[in-house]
Amino acid sequence: MAVKRVPLIAGNWKMNLDHLQAIATVQKLAWTLKDAKHEYGLGGAEVAVFPPFTDLRSVQTLISADKLEIVFGGQDVSEHDSGAYTGEISGAFLKSLDCSYVIIGHSERRQYHGETDELLGRKVAAALKHGLVPVLCVGETAEDLEQHGPSAVPVAQLKAALEGISGAPDLVVAYEPVWAIGSGQAATPEQAEQVAAKLRETLAELLGAEVADATRILYGGSVKSGNIAAFMREPNVDGALVGGASLDVAEFASIARFQKHVGT
Ligand code: PGA
Repeated sequence: MAVKRVPLIAGNWKMNLDHLQAIATVQKLAWTLKDAKHEYGLGGAEVAVFPPFTDLRSVQTLISADKLEIVFGGQDVSEHDSGAYTGEISGAFLKSLDCSYVIIGHSERRQYHGETDELLGRKVAAALKHGLVPVLCVGETAEDLEQHGPSAVPVAQLKAALEGISGAPDLVVAYEPVWAIGSGQAATPEQAEQVAAKLRETLAELLGAEVADATRILYGGSVKSGNIAAFMREPNVDGALVGGASLDVAEFASIARFQKHVGT
């Protein structure tokens, strides 16, 4: 029997908003969502933000003091626990700041920082070791799409990143076609569903049907309040990873308001 997956709406702030702006943004978001919950019901969706590292302590303090129903995570994590790795951030540090999640393998990290599938596999293992839920990003470039079709590259990236992983890890996979990120040209819901279904099949092969069934698969790439409904209607899409639109509180809150009626 299929399990009920709690939809996740995740805002990836990238390198935007300093810690003061982060406080104002999270406060405003919490207010807007409270209102939404009251008026429309949030449908049990989980709302997460991914601020820059320097904002995390401020965000944690605010969320815990005001008991806000928003979770948060880092945008990257080191493969190492501690030591002489200048500029790196340990999963242990993120965990001690109450991070629930960490984004791993965003295409901007792959592209600008040369992060390889092998390294990302070690980062996934590090995140799990420290009790963080990895939000593993996979996705093809426009060139990949032309050469290999829609799902070959994302599936290969997923396989590579999960190579050393066994058991039943708590994991989120974000399908983010590189050509759709920040371009205003989102994938169609059918394209997202096609790849998400393949990714779920791959999860079943690698980790078994139960894990595949429980794992949330997000779509990311030019998600907005105007297109979220169509993505959420797809059976294998369990939420969204939102970049640009997550910086606009009203816009992000309307994306998060989206309810998915699972099981019908
Ligand atoms: P976008 O970014 O929503 O601005 O396209 C998505 C992402 O990079 O996660």
